[in-house]
Amino acid sequence: MTPKVIVVGAVNVDMVVTAPTLPRAGETVVGPGVERHGGGKGANAAVAASRAGATVHYLGAVGDDDLGRTALAELSTENVIVDDVEVIGRCSTGVALIVVDDAGENQIAVGGGANIRLSVDRLRAGLVASLPETDCVLVSTEIPDDAVVTAVELATAAGVRCLLNPAPVIPAVHRLIDRGAILTPNRGELAALVDPSAATGAPTTDQAIEHARALNARSRAPVVVTLGGDGALLVDPDGGAEHVAALPATVRDTTGAGDTFNGVLAATLASGTSLREAVTDANTAAALSVARLGARAGMPTAAELDLARART
Ligand code: RIB
Ligand code: NA
Repeated sequence: MTPKVIVVGAVNVDMVVTAPTLPRAGETVVGPGVERHGGGKGANAAVAASRAGATVHYLGAVGDDDLGRTALAELSTENVIVDDVEVIGRCSTGVALIVVDDAGENQIAVGGGANIRLSVDRLRAGLVASLPETDCVLVSTEIPDDAVVTAVELATAAGVRCLLNPAPVIPAVHRLIDRGAILTPNRGELAALVDPSAATGAPTTDQAIEHARALNARSRAPVVVTLGGDGALLVDPDGGAEHVAALPATVRDTTGAGDTFNGVLAATLASGTSLREAVTDANTAAALSVARLGARAGMPTAAELDLARART
């Protein structure tokens, strides 16, 4: 049976400029390239999960504009089901302005548009219709607090495995820590979850294990920490902690690497594998994704993932 995944989160159109360096405040940098790519953490993860072989239902919102029509067409081309995506009149589709420098570092500003006007009733209806046949629900933020709460509460109440990618950490995430969802923060998000005053800064890998254990105690669920070029950490409530090393990667653009990780994690978990194996696949997919410019460019297909798996 094909694994079934629901992804809840934002969809954006990314305007990507490549420049030798990232601009500082008040500075103009001029680079050679400008490209338009599909984006948004929710929609990106939906594409990653679909390419990895899952049947994916994406729930979110676009504006009634050309950008929104393009965004939905791109998702359909990726076999992502968009039937229940809300189309909001007189509202822009979300847009991300992204600068990528020669080292692959990025800077992103998001105009939320339709994503932050998403109707919770509409979302609830979409979830209720699809949840019974779903193996895994992935929720990311960049959408209203009550939408995130609704999605995580409905999924966990239905006993469906739920991943919560707290990117960014919005107030809803703090309220949801005890719901049993698997949290997938990066280092900075992990620090913000454990210490909302965020005085601690990005934790080292050892500190990240301690932070994840603090979350384990509250969530009674595993925590998966993405460590960028250092791979990922899987920290179980029983105290077990495992570091999955990063694969060697050619870094062109790290935009969307976290979304790739989350989407493949959801698809692989939905297929019934262990969380450990799913983290390994997600880690491999994220390493492949950074080789190409654009959040979704470089995300592997199931066949490419098989090949990469065979090489590791
Ligand atoms: O995670 C990458 C994504 O963040 C981009 O595609 C951009 O749209 C922002 O949402
Ligand atoms: Na990419």
